[in-house]
Amino acid sequence: MCGIVGYTGSDTAKDILLTGLKRLEYRGYDSAGVALENRDAGTGAARLDVVRRVGKVDGLKSELAGRDDAATCGIGHTRWATHGQPSVANAHPHVSCDGRIAVVHNGIIENFAELREELEGRGHQFRSDTDTEVIAHLVEEAYAAAEGERDIVDALREACTHIVGAYGVAAVCADEPGVIAVARKDSPIVIGRGERGSYVASDVIALIDATRDVVVLEDGQFARLAPEGITYTDEQGRAIEPTVTHVDWDVDMAEKGGYPDFMLKEICEQPRVVRDTLVGRMSATGELDIDELGLSFEELNLIDRVYVIACGTSYHAGLVAKNLIEGWARIPCEVEAASEFRYRNPIITPSTLVVAVSQSGETADTLAAIRDARIKGAKVFGITNVVGSPVARESDGVIYTKANKEIAVASTKSFIGQIVSLTLLALLLAQVKGKITVRQARMLFHELGDTAEQIQWILDTQADAVREAAEACVPAQSALFVGRGMGAAISYEGALKLKEVSYLHAEAYAAGEMKHGPIALIDPGFPVIAVATKSPTYDKVVSNLKECEARGAKIIALATEGDEDIKQIADYVIYVPRVRDAFSAITASVPLQLLAREVAIMRGCDVDQPRNLAKSVTVE
Ligand code: G6P
Repeated sequence: MCGIVGYTGSDTAKDILLTGLKRLEYRGYDSAGVALENRDAGTGAARLDVVRRVGKVDGLKSELAGRDDAATCGIGHTRWATHGQPSVANAHPHVSCDGRIAVVHNGIIENFAELREELEGRGHQFRSDTDTEVIAHLVEEAYAAAEGERDIVDALREACTHIVGAYGVAAVCADEPGVIAVARKDSPIVIGRGERGSYVASDVIALIDATRDVVVLEDGQFARLAPEGITYTDEQGRAIEPTVTHVDWDVDMAEKGGYPDFMLKEICEQPRVVRDTLVGRMSATGELDIDELGLSFEELNLIDRVYVIACGTSYHAGLVAKNLIEGWARIPCEVEAASEFRYRNPIITPSTLVVAVSQSGETADTLAAIRDARIKGAKVFGITNVVGSPVARESDGVIYTKANKEIAVASTKSFIGQIVSLTLLALLLAQVKGKITVRQARMLFHELGDTAEQIQWILDTQADAVREAAEACVPAQSALFVGRGMGAAISYEGALKLKEVSYLHAEAYAAGEMKHGPIALIDPGFPVIAVATKSPTYDKVVSNLKECEARGAKIIALATEGDEDIKQIADYVIYVPRVRDAFSAITASVPLQLLAREVAIMRGCDVDQPRNLAKSVTVE
């Protein structure tokens, strides 16, 4: 989820690009860069000047102060690393070998490794670790190979035929001054025409100073921006008439993509997070591809104990992972709060694997626990959302969650990315240990991918049911979340989410443990939120709910689509699609996130910035 901007017209391009990038910075800011079209003082020949900086847009702005004022066409990018560390070399724009073509890109190119190998075989020289750079070289080849008049939009169109994956791309070419070529597939691109030129961005927020009438480019559409106007074409190069949309959002609404808050926006992004986290992860022969494995299969095969260490929501992702690692790989797995782990004397040997889960990759307790585990001889595997973060750097192996930057303090989409990544790790361990076959791994991998659509179904159909259930929670003083197995793991996260954003006290319990204490809390109207989806323990959960019902609890059940019987005991039912128990945490978490948000809003709370909490906790 990086940010793209482009401008061609009569104003100073640098200023427009920097303003646009600043607006997009909330989406990620590990590095930023621009490519500006300038003219050689002596010959008058056009050239591209690329300036890139690690860090925020202000750093780039300082670097550009007092230079490049004459350029009236350029493209810019603010990056949130997905392939390759945050560095100048990996920052966009990326250029062709001859430096005459520059591109900025959002999205993920799934076949970039193959494309890079082919391009290198044909003599192209790569200067970064990014997937994006292949686009610059593909466009360069297509441009050079064009018969007749060369055209940067046609070259980009040809380049796109080789790309598998998602892209929003803007490209400039020194041989066609003033022109920006744009392409889109599964990654947002908006284009606008203002009084003083033509604009492109990955998000409407970067355009709203110039125009409120925008074209949202559709998949397979291309655009050619010039100072005097914009033309649109399809994959065959035929002219098309785009649909113009009038936007009357203010800046705040535009940042949130039209959603009322970041929390809801991020909850709704979860289908994409599942897809992106899985992109390119499994080869045709069933091998799993992990970002940085760092450990040989021999080393993995020797693992005889796993500790998952994490804090907050990430800790709950660990509870889900325990079920998978023990269930599939048959390796004993313990989940511990990093703040506890570091002060205990856990049993660690060279065959212990410590899996550190951290959205930010910089939580102090998690980092300290990693360091401690390494000193004691453990292998460490990191699951994080931030490329190049301390957790990534200090682990032997890493899986990146591809949730992109999460802004709401309460973690939602990162949690889903963590569960998907931990599921991949569990599959890998199970494969290495010979507990599942390649065929089974492939089948499970595809079913895991199906959860993207299943989450979408929940988002599309269950909003009303969630709202009604939320109304029942609002007057309460406290709420209980219960479930068994995966349902218990998810109940802990459901209770945490409710506490975090609505300030309503909530507790989670393994449903079978209710009768040993928590049931004493129940009096008429007390909300009990139960993960009662179809699973091997479904009947047991239903029995536990009957005990709550008998004491007057108000029961909100998360049930499997089609389960009508549950209505006999539940006052409110929220449905989720039927999934394999191993993947039920992914789907069941979504209504619990929605429920927490809804209760919080009804109670007048700020769901994006709850009191007393911080997104990243870098102190003990
Ligand atoms: C803070 C955040 C939580 C997060 C926890 C762990 O408490 O508010 O949302 O789950 O830190 O953070 P990490 O970045 O390590 O996942």
